[in-house]
Amino acid sequence: MTASNEILSLRNLTVDFGGVRAVNDVSLSLQRGEMVALIGPNGAGKTTIFNLITSAVQPTAGEILLNGKSILRKSPDQICRLGISRTFQNIRLFPQMTAYENVELGLHSTPHYSLAEAFVRTPRARQIENDTRKKALELLEMVNLQEYAHARAASLPYGLQRRLEIARAMATSPQLLLLDEPAAGMNEDECNELIELIRKIHQQMQYTIIIIEHHMAVVMELCRDSRIYVLNLGSLLAVGSPQEIQNNPDVIRAYLGERKNARDFSAS
Ligand SMILES: Nc1ncnc2c1ncn2[C@@H]1O[C@H](COP(=O)(O)OP(=O)(O)OP(=O)(O)O)[C@@H](O)[C@H]1O
Ligand SMILES: [Mg+2]
Repeated sequence: MTASNEILSLRNLTVDFGGVRAVNDVSLSLQRGEMVALIGPNGAGKTTIFNLITSAVQPTAGEILLNGKSILRKSPDQICRLGISRTFQNIRLFPQMTAYENVELGLHSTPHYSLAEAFVRTPRARQIENDTRKKALELLEMVNLQEYAHARAASLPYGLQRRLEIARAMATSPQLLLLDEPAAGMNEDECNELIELIRKIHQQMQYTIIIIEHHMAVVMELCRDSRIYVLNLGSLLAVGSPQEIQNNPDVIRAYLGERKNARDFSAS
């Protein structure tokens, strides 16, 4: 692959929160269309990496390039328009709104007509509204939530809310999709459905995807043809194929410090 296929480059990123070094000299390079995972014990700095990429946190040192251009100090709006979208570890839906309305809001974050046009309902505005409705329903269908379109987000079981978050993140037509623990709280069957879903949207939408996940079976399956980055205490501990990572003594040691995840890790 040529260098021009590189979509994202994190270069020597460091983040200090007061006395805590949450991220320490981390570099990572992603080719367009890849799906990679970012794993590591609790507090390793994984979510902070997503916060850096989406400009919610600024690095103490280092650089972030999207398609070869720096995206440091961009506003969240600009980041969204540049084609980066994410889901959140702690679900951030509008609980009183319906599933459909949550996705529709994401679609309106990139409005294509003015308020005045919307007010007088010009044919163009009406056409865009129809397109928006169609697109929102398509996105719900893509994550298998079409039958819940008019259910309030808060009334959906946890696993379905996570899928709704993915649909909402897709609404901004990203080129880079960041999924922060999409399988959190899911049982084995739900995890298997999620694997199929993420694989499907990766193939159909041709997104580049980074997935943070503690469910090792999900990570190993989704990255079987790519690679996994392992963070520990803010630093990159290892990068490799699922098999390399599972057999890496440093990685096993890092996970053994944390009982629950060590169990997940060895079980996969
Ligand atoms: N805004 C913040 N202010 C201060 N400290 C923070 C902030 N965000 C994260 N941290 C700290 O940085 C470290 C890394 O946190 P981060 O949330 O990135 O970990 P993580 O790998 O996502 O963990 P988990 O698997 O539990 O989600 C932790 O020590 C955390 O307490
Ligand atoms: Mg996290």
